[in-house]
Amino acid sequence: MDTIAKDASLTVLGIETSCDETAAALVRRGPGGRGEILSSVVRSQLDLHAAYGGVVPEIAARAHVELLDAAIRQALAEAGVDFDAVDAVAAAAGPGLVGGLIVGVTTGKAIALGLGRPFMAVNHLEAHALTAGLTDQLDFPYLLLLVSGGHTQLLIVKGVGEYERLGTTLDDALGEAFDKAAKLLGLAYPGGPEVEREAAKGQPRIPLPRPMAGREEPHFSLAGLKTALRHAALARAPLGAQDIADLCASFQEAVADIVGDRTSRALDLYQERLGAKAQKALVVAGGVAANQRLKAALETLAAARGFRLVVPPPELCSDNAVMIAWAGAMRLAHGLADDLAAPVRARWPLDPDAPPAIGAGIKA
Ligand code: KG4
Ligand code: ZN
Repeated sequence: MDTIAKDASLTVLGIETSCDETAAALVRRGPGGRGEILSSVVRSQLDLHAAYGGVVPEIAARAHVELLDAAIRQALAEAGVDFDAVDAVAAAAGPGLVGGLIVGVTTGKAIALGLGRPFMAVNHLEAHALTAGLTDQLDFPYLLLLVSGGHTQLLIVKGVGEYERLGTTLDDALGEAFDKAAKLLGLAYPGGPEVEREAAKGQPRIPLPRPMAGREEPHFSLAGLKTALRHAALARAPLGAQDIADLCASFQEAVADIVGDRTSRALDLYQERLGAKAQKALVVAGGVAANQRLKAALETLAAARGFRLVVPPPELCSDNAVMIAWAGAMRLAHGLADDLAAPVRARWPLDPDAPPAIGAGIKA
């Protein structure tokens, strides 16, 4: 296998199949460490899962098999290169749905083997965590709020492979809470954009709790909010259009307050732990980062604390293969290639040493 000099220019093929997006991308990392997106293909499987109100793992895995080869070919074509130009291959190897991960990782390994190039088994969460370095040339360290359909975490990002988890969710992920709220109110999947659209037509007049607000550790808990929403909806049934809009506005407002409160606490800890080394940068990643109300709450918080808020563009916040390729390039530049025996992992915490969150379920 070729060895690659630390400062060489690298073109990396990234593959993402951890959930319900089949994605392939080519990213170049220049000698100075700056990244350039050569192509990005994302084939959403939303239509296949919509009828079930959530992602069906078996359907997702089969769809990845059907879609991935064409997505890779398209990524190469859009970048205007062929396989010879690929210096390394990176595939998301977890955390996620194992069936889909196997499809992406096996394909990535086969291409790497065929080309005689390095292979990187990328942690999907690390890819979200490192995206700001590509989009905003942000240096380490920074505080990351990762909010997606599967994850809700507050992490100190110290460097490639160096993460300290400050907070996590004890139950539902934030995007999952939006999806469940939408389902409860008869809205389509994925629920986040639907709830946001409805909320724009309503008023946050319905009292809902702010679970965990003020707690010392910046953990989240969203199950109680979901239950409170259910009770509020039942109390108003049958729901008219305005009720639904008001319930969505109230739910979104509660979420914005919770996120503001928890992130504020994490900023305290970040500064306490890193002292003068704490760069005043707050990064938001994950599909929920598309929510404008949430963004406004974080902007207010960042401004009050003198922090720069970095939110990568929506297409790079939600699942994509650019972030996988970029994380692969960063890892390779740090000499962190994997061998072809690298496993897929359903669970793969970024900070395995983080103390368990008391009361947390399996997702912590
Ligand atoms: O990061 P992502 O694309 O996929 C993973 O879960 O990894 O995130 C998808 C999640 C879904 O739960 C979706 O409802 C939520 O992000 N989401 C939103 C918005 N857009 C997407 N949540 C709230 N407001 C939005 N505008
Ligand atoms: Zn994700």
